[in-house]
Amino acid sequence: PEYTITLDPAATGVEIPDSMYGVFFEDINYAADGGLYAELVRNRSFEFLPVDHPSFTGLTAWTTTGTTADDDGRLHERNRTYLRLAGGQSLTNAGFNSGIALTAGALYDFSVWAAGAAPLTVTLHDAAGQALAAPLTITTRGAGWAKYTGVLRANRTTDAGRLTVAAGGADTLRLDEVSLFPRETFKNRRNGLRKDLAEKVAALNPGFVRFPGGCLVNTGSHEGYDAASNFERARSYQWKDTVGPVEQRATNKNFWGYNQTYGLGYYEYFQFAEDLGAMPLPVVPALVTGCGQNRATDDEALLQRHIQDTLDLIEFATGPATSTWGKLRADMGHPKPFALTHVAVGNEENLPDAYFARFTRFRAAIEARYPDIVVVGNSGPDDTGATFDRLWELNRAAGTEMIDEHYYNSPAWFLSHNERYDSYDRNGPDVFLGEYASLDNKLFNSLAEAAYMTGLERNADVVRMASYAPLLANVDHVQWRPDLIWFDNDESWGSTSYQVQKLFMNNVGDRTVPSSLVGPGLEPQPITGAVGLSTWATAARYDDVRVTTPGGEVLFADDFSAGADAWSPFTGRGAWSVVDGAYTQSDTAAQDTMVRGADITATDYDYSVKATKLSG
Ligand code: AHR
Repeated sequence: PEYTITLDPAATGVEIPDSMYGVFFEDINYAADGGLYAELVRNRSFEFLPVDHPSFTGLTAWTTTGTTADDDGRLHERNRTYLRLAGGQSLTNAGFNSGIALTAGALYDFSVWAAGAAPLTVTLHDAAGQALAAPLTITTRGAGWAKYTGVLRANRTTDAGRLTVAAGGADTLRLDEVSLFPRETFKNRRNGLRKDLAEKVAALNPGFVRFPGGCLVNTGSHEGYDAASNFERARSYQWKDTVGPVEQRATNKNFWGYNQTYGLGYYEYFQFAEDLGAMPLPVVPALVTGCGQNRATDDEALLQRHIQDTLDLIEFATGPATSTWGKLRADMGHPKPFALTHVAVGNEENLPDAYFARFTRFRAAIEARYPDIVVVGNSGPDDTGATFDRLWELNRAAGTEMIDEHYYNSPAWFLSHNERYDSYDRNGPDVFLGEYASLDNKLFNSLAEAAYMTGLERNADVVRMASYAPLLANVDHVQWRPDLIWFDNDESWGSTSYQVQKLFMNNVGDRTVPSSLVGPGLEPQPITGAVGLSTWATAARYDDVRVTTPGGEVLFADDFSAGADAWSPFTGRGAWSVVDGAYTQSDTAAQDTMVRGADITATDYDYSVKATKLSG
């Protein structure tokens, strides 16, 4: 078959912003500790608790005859549990995944906080006890807490190392924050990022970094509706918990069901964005839970504190080194401001009016103090539906500058929705497509995403930014798929979707050129004759199928790849209607996989089907 592409180079399409494509980092799939954050010691501060995960304790990943304690002898109020280690005792850390990854000849920075006086011997070895580095000897002094450091050089490459600290002498030591970092990190930052992973992100050439979530931000926590939870576990992600000296940072239960150390915190996120040449885009909790939980706080004092925290965050990023929070940034090593221009409030809230009321409070406070900051709202958890429609209506009426949209759909959906943004109001809010992916990591998914991205670029006057999600997945802890980059403790690899993102992100044009494509199979193809359900179930390459029953009911499906033996009349979202047996819904809204129903059988209906043939 012959196809004709017509281009009009003289015609001016829309401009594409340099920051069109970015990345969304969320600590899901164990993406931070044991992932992007380069720390090699797991549970370094003995803070894991069963509340983080039923199998966790203060000694998770450790083997020791020492004992944990949580009392007034602690290192810091936010780093509560420490280890008591008597002379003759030792403790061994098993690292992440299969162990501590070491490269022959590379240097590793060891550090520990200790109180008491004793000789310590630090060794790297394999599970059988074979040495992986010459031992390091440290002598601790005095009764008070102090930090001790030393360097080890690996003599062998392995992905299964162990770290052991053995105490001599007569004192019982208090130990905390036992840490081992590769000397070589991304851009060689201290407390830095794992080089191969950060370099894979850098190779995407992202225009922005959205962080830290996602559902991570505003849910999975009682904090959103309980004012009395300061410094308790399982509170929502709050940036102030994540800055300052690492040994004084809180750890917390992660929304995704494990402990997060906050070693990778807001300062490190801002630094990473700067190192990538990307715009940082933090997301703060809106005090309305989303992600399947529907609750909103009515605690006015808590809401005000979070609004103030957000103002303080902007000061932390952009304020002078003489300001309260700007000084903390300077003390942490970055006197110059970070280039913060956007702040997003909330993520996927299901209570549109409750969310919007709180968003409005955040926005008013931010705009009053920082009129140049763009406050990004969102449109709930889906690409359509009542929450989505209501949030768009509220945001449009309020003149919100930018709205975050999220959707994870079938490849067929992405192929058939290329025109989604063609009809968006050019005078309404800009779109930030903060999360999207076609639901698998196969080549067909990435091709569907690539096709869809051409529609994003054609509408770059409305869709100003877009990021695939999630970014990272630890192969031993996959909680969500598909993902862009996969890793274990010493290797990482991009999915085919990663290659598509890389291709688009490194070749952002200045503007689009209007074009058209004509050829066989591109127009809607009538399918004649009766089509039975077995045909449907295998018709994976037909999309946007409408079925009119003799009774005038309209059945609809946009993904036939799931084998099915029975389908019910469409009862889903959006403004569907049937008038005199005719289908009246437009192509661009409310498309969904057909609802399966046990009470409908293949013999119930005769079908007349018209389908858009996508390929094959
Ligand atoms: O990207 C994974 C999750 O998907 C995000 O946390 C959430 O925002 C969405 O539902």
